[in-house]
Amino acid sequence: MSQVPNPTEGAENAAQTPYALLGGDAAVRELVERFYDLMDLEPGYAQLRALHAADLAHAREKLYLFLCGWLGGPSLYIERYGHPMLRARHLPFPIGIRERDQWLACMEQAMVEQGVSDDLRQRLRQAFFQTADWMRNRTA
Ligand code: HEM
Repeated sequence: MSQVPNPTEGAENAAQTPYALLGGDAAVRELVERFYDLMDLEPGYAQLRALHAADLAHAREKLYLFLCGWLGGPSLYIERYGHPMLRARHLPFPIGIRERDQWLACMEQAMVEQGVSDDLRQRLRQAFFQTADWMRNRTA
């Protein structure tokens, strides 16, 4: 698969994109901030946290830029850095089922805490699963 799976299918206009439904730029930023705060704080995400640098500032900025476009908003990541090549960029990190599931649980918790509606959360959960599973580079 050469393209990152994304959740924008079925969004017939800009008002229906997950980006708009979430609440736009500020909401995406807040979601990403909460995601990395939780990764830093919660013992349940320790193995996921251990794969990241001590300073999460770089990861926070890149995920925010990426998610804006992935959710159907402005293509901020591509404008700055070109094609994300997300799977290749994750190859240096051993990602198995445990790491995938910690990433997904951390994002789910962040979405719940940010008050993302049940409908939107369900839609995004599926798209995040496809993307995170596609990033897996270990069988276990
Ligand atoms: C499946 C489990 C995942 C693990 C273990 C993981 C881990 C990581 C790590 C360690 C980094 C490097 C951070 C840094 O440079 O400090 C990174 C970068 C990144 N991750 Fe993930 N990630 C996962 C899933 C995802 C998913 C599902 C997405 C998108 C929906 C994503 C988007 C990104 C982006 C955009 C970057 C920045 C890439 C760049 O350097 O330009 N990751 N990830």
